[in-house]
Amino acid sequence: MTATVITGIGELTTNDDEYGTLADAALVIERDRIAWVGSASSAPDADERVDAEGRAVLPGWVDSHTHLVFAGDRTAEFAARMSGLPYQAGGIAVTVEATRQAGDAELADNLRRHVEEAAAQGTTCVETKTGYGLTVEDELRSAKIAASVADDVTFLGAHLVPPGTDVDDYVDLVCGDMLDAVADHVGWCDVFCERGAFDADQSRRVLAAARQHGLGLRVHGNQLGPGPGARLAVEVGAASVDHGTYLDASDVEALAGSDTVATLLPACDLSTRQPLPDARALLEAGATVALATNCNPGSSYTSSMAYCVTTAVLQMRMSVSEAVHAATWGGARALRRETGDGAVGVLRPGARADVQLLDAPSTTWLAYRPGVPLTRAVWREGNRIR
Ligand code: NIG
Repeated sequence: MTATVITGIGELTTNDDEYGTLADAALVIERDRIAWVGSASSAPDADERVDAEGRAVLPGWVDSHTHLVFAGDRTAEFAARMSGLPYQAGGIAVTVEATRQAGDAELADNLRRHVEEAAAQGTTCVETKTGYGLTVEDELRSAKIAASVADDVTFLGAHLVPPGTDVDDYVDLVCGDMLDAVADHVGWCDVFCERGAFDADQSRRVLAAARQHGLGLRVHGNQLGPGPGARLAVEVGAASVDHGTYLDASDVEALAGSDTVATLLPACDLSTRQPLPDARALLEAGATVALATNCNPGSSYTSSMAYCVTTAVLQMRMSVSEAVHAATWGGARALRRETGDGAVGVLRPGARADVQLLDAPSTTWLAYRPGVPLTRAVWREGNRIR
């Protein structure tokens, strides 16, 4: 059996209570799993040896929120926004149109290209969503394409009411024929619970129907203004509420008393010129926080988890270790992948061998050297991909 030992690790972030953060450490990868973690001086022999020469090693990023089944781009919309126009959820319709016109191969190539772009920057586990099809046929093919590439797939038929469609008729379609068609190809269902998209009752209907199909639940909420999204997510036991830009004290309290992860998407808030979410209030109340890119062509066109971590530290007052934890373990928790055999976002024996080696002595450099590419090597499921 081929095993690789990464030794000479200056700082090893495991996100595991037993191992913690180790100095002068080593880890062993066997096939697609972590086989051993400990001090470099007691590391076992292996067929292949990588000397980290004092650099930092941590779990691969877990990007738990992206929208990567799309065609086209929205450069003009972004440029207009940078000259002062506001972000509007209606821009989604532009991508819906381009996505419907695209062939399956074009959509799959585009998705793969973005997942590989992220992997080269240390992202080893990716969730992605449907939501730019909005017909039974286009949501189904989006779900199948997503399932062929991403680790986790979320059905987001309730992303926007297609222009010219009655909202209640559309919710009926999502809860009926659309869910029937896609449910076998996805693990999760999401709904955009926001003024201009779906209200709390409509969102609740979609989530209830999805639960009947055995899907896990998540909610887009409190992105563009205060609203019921976060509280609805807690009410239905959703794994995460994503965005959380406009949370009030009762939302924070509800999240802190629940198993629902608050997935913050700072790159989106910057790209749409919204305020940044109050990560400190969430953390101090005891809520679980994840960081993700929200990579999509409209509101957040970046695949860089490091950028999200840097922003969280420099502008959201998260400590480096909180931000790194949120971008690895937090994302895994949002996907309910943080425990058991093949867990992600952690480095311990039995976890998936998703590992990144930074060209830096510690994760502090992610904020200390903002914007500088620090990914030196990446292993995904035990294969070195960079
Ligand atoms: O998470 N909030 C809704 N959906 C995406 C926006 C996608 C788009 O503008 O195309 C988001 O920001």
